[in-house]
Amino acid sequence: MNEHTRAPSVSERADELEERMMHELSERIATRSTLFYLGDGKVQFDSGEALLAANPGKHFLMGADPRLPPLPKKPTLIDFFKARFATTAHLLQSATHALKGGQPEKVVLACLLHDIGVASFIRCDHGYWGAQMIEPYVDEEVSWAVRMHQALRFFPDPSVGYEYPQMYVKLFGADYKPEPYIVAEYERARNHKWYMTSRLITLNDIYSFDPNAKVDLDDFVDIVGRNFKEPKEGLGFDNSPSAHMWRTLMWPTRFL
Ligand SMILES: [Fe+2]
Ligand SMILES: [Fe+2]
Repeated sequence: MNEHTRAPSVSERADELEERMMHELSERIATRSTLFYLGDGKVQFDSGEALLAANPGKHFLMGADPRLPPLPKKPTLIDFFKARFATTAHLLQSATHALKGGQPEKVVLACLLHDIGVASFIRCDHGYWGAQMIEPYVDEEVSWAVRMHQALRFFPDPSVGYEYPQMYVKLFGADYKPEPYIVAEYERARNHKWYMTSRLITLNDIYSFDPNAKVDLDDFVDIVGRNFKEPKEGLGFDNSPSAHMWRTLMWPTRFL
């Protein structure tokens, strides 16, 4: 087979697919942020000029990406659960476990939201990202607990029966040691008045990977209603310090 008749390579087929996907957006070009490329091991930046040249007559997407589930004009937390959180079973199982254990609503909410950073956005430092997203809308204790679970989950607490998760040995290897910034965070959290709230996230976390457990977002709508201050303008449009994060989730392929 010579160069002109060979079957398309995997990367050529990916290019074709991309082209088609762009086409499906009709008049608009969806762009990838640098972070999306970094995730593929590439330090790459889409040049606006080059993309315009490759898509004559089109403009860049500056709003909703038609490939993604639509969000209402004034989206709520529940809307994001349904349209943007790629996985909710773990969050719901963790919150269900806390609820059945008789934990206060604050703790149930913290469990429900503890991994929204990773479910919607990014893995690295997901506790910090998640805490920042919810900070303007929840009791300070809840966002503090979500932030600190990032560090606490790596450290046992025999006083409440929390052991280093065996799953982490499986996931990261037996020789993984948390970095110094995580150790320092743990030490700060250990003596904090809300330590136990965050510890309760980790306690409910490790038991919450049952694929057969029956969970339902509807069970938490009232708790969210009482404990998450939904902005009347909708998440993303209320000028809060984290509104931009919700907008970015809403429109991840906007050009700017
Ligand atoms: Fe987590
Ligand atoms: Fe978790």
